[in-house]
Amino acid sequence: MITYLITGCAGFIGSNFVRYMLAHHRDIRLVNLDALTYAGSLENLKGAEHDPRHIFVRGDIGDRALVQQLLSEYDPDYVINFAAESHVDRSIAHPEAFVTTNVLGTVNLLQCCKEAWHDPGTRQWKPGKKYLQISTDEVYGALGADGYFSETTPLHPHSPYSASKASADHFVQAFHDTYGMPVNITRCSNNYGPYQFPEKLIPLMIQRARHHQPLPVYGDGLQIRDWLYVEDHCKAIDLVARGGKDGEVYNIGGHNERTNIQIVQTILQQLRDRLRDDEINEGLISHVEDRLGHDRRYAIDPGKIRADLGWYPETPFEVGITKTIHWYLENEEWMERASSGADQRQDKGMISAADKDRMLSSGVQP
Ligand SMILES: NC(=O)c1ccc[n+]([C@@H]2O[C@H](COP(=O)([O-])OP(=O)(O)OC[C@H]3O[C@@H](n4cnc5c(N)ncnc54)[C@H](O)[C@@H]3O)[C@@H](O)[C@H]2O)c1
Repeated sequence: MITYLITGCAGFIGSNFVRYMLAHHRDIRLVNLDALTYAGSLENLKGAEHDPRHIFVRGDIGDRALVQQLLSEYDPDYVINFAAESHVDRSIAHPEAFVTTNVLGTVNLLQCCKEAWHDPGTRQWKPGKKYLQISTDEVYGALGADGYFSETTPLHPHSPYSASKASADHFVQAFHDTYGMPVNITRCSNNYGPYQFPEKLIPLMIQRARHHQPLPVYGDGLQIRDWLYVEDHCKAIDLVARGGKDGEVYNIGGHNERTNIQIVQTILQQLRDRLRDDEINEGLISHVEDRLGHDRRYAIDPGKIRADLGWYPETPFEVGITKTIHWYLENEEWMERASSGADQRQDKGMISAADKDRMLSSGVQP
């Protein structure tokens, strides 16, 4: 059996990763450490609540004693760090939390893994162990009209969010270069799909448009992002964990570049057609003052992960966005609870109180 210590997996990508792994692997154990910040919820783990292969532990990646205890109790083969403060706008307003979790939390995980896996006398690492950092294409900064980010593109982050993620990446690389720690880093483009917190572009626009509310679009809306369906990202992480070459970085992206305004137009059209509601139209779009330091274009060259691990994006955007819109329409209650505050989401909703108690008591309580 392979044991994973996964962090931040009550959030968007992590919760999809839990479902992906449980569906694709039989003999695994997932120990999920998540602080349940505003962005995380047990509600996101629907489908995993009865599965004994998934153990939920509420706690902070910066809690040294707790991380040490989990490493000793479960002896994971892989540690995969998804946990982060992830919203650029919040990082512009309050950068400190991004340093605490994204930088110091990551360094704490690295230190604890080193203590658990490294013998300073022989300088040997326990065989079969690996630390995997889930990073972002935003660490590379912005592109002009042409070109792609490759794994050798220098890091040039602009927002406090991307600066904190780049800093974490440097520490991961430093633990590899200094101590020989077995690591990988993945840098993915923008994800979309179910269970994304509705402060992010796609769920926010779906929720507002269906209620005929104004759709705030930053500046001219011509910022370009490379959109990837979340399940394709989960598959890439699984492949890198099991097959990534030691010390390597892997970029993950779909060659699916869209401007923000195109994304909004697609959502409007699909909602109008599905709900047969002509009031859902481009008149709802409201251009607002651009985000400070807003990067103009991100685009990934995924050639290395394709060549080394055979990964490619399987979900065409037209299919993925249709599935995503369908999911948010079908899960309006989830959406309402997520928007109304994470604390409330812990107390009522889609997962029964008994299941929540079981999930919370199955792990170590901080
Ligand atoms: N969403 C994207 O498009 C995208 C793209 C590329 C990379 N990433 C990276 O993927 C990871 C996951 O992103 P997401 O969109 O799922 O984020 P998210 O904000 O939806 O989820 C973050 C999760 O981390 C948890 N968390 C936050 N601080 C914590 C702490 N100190 N200790 C333990 N848990 C903590 C939260 O409770 C939440 O469950 C992040 O590292 C992010 O930088 C995201």
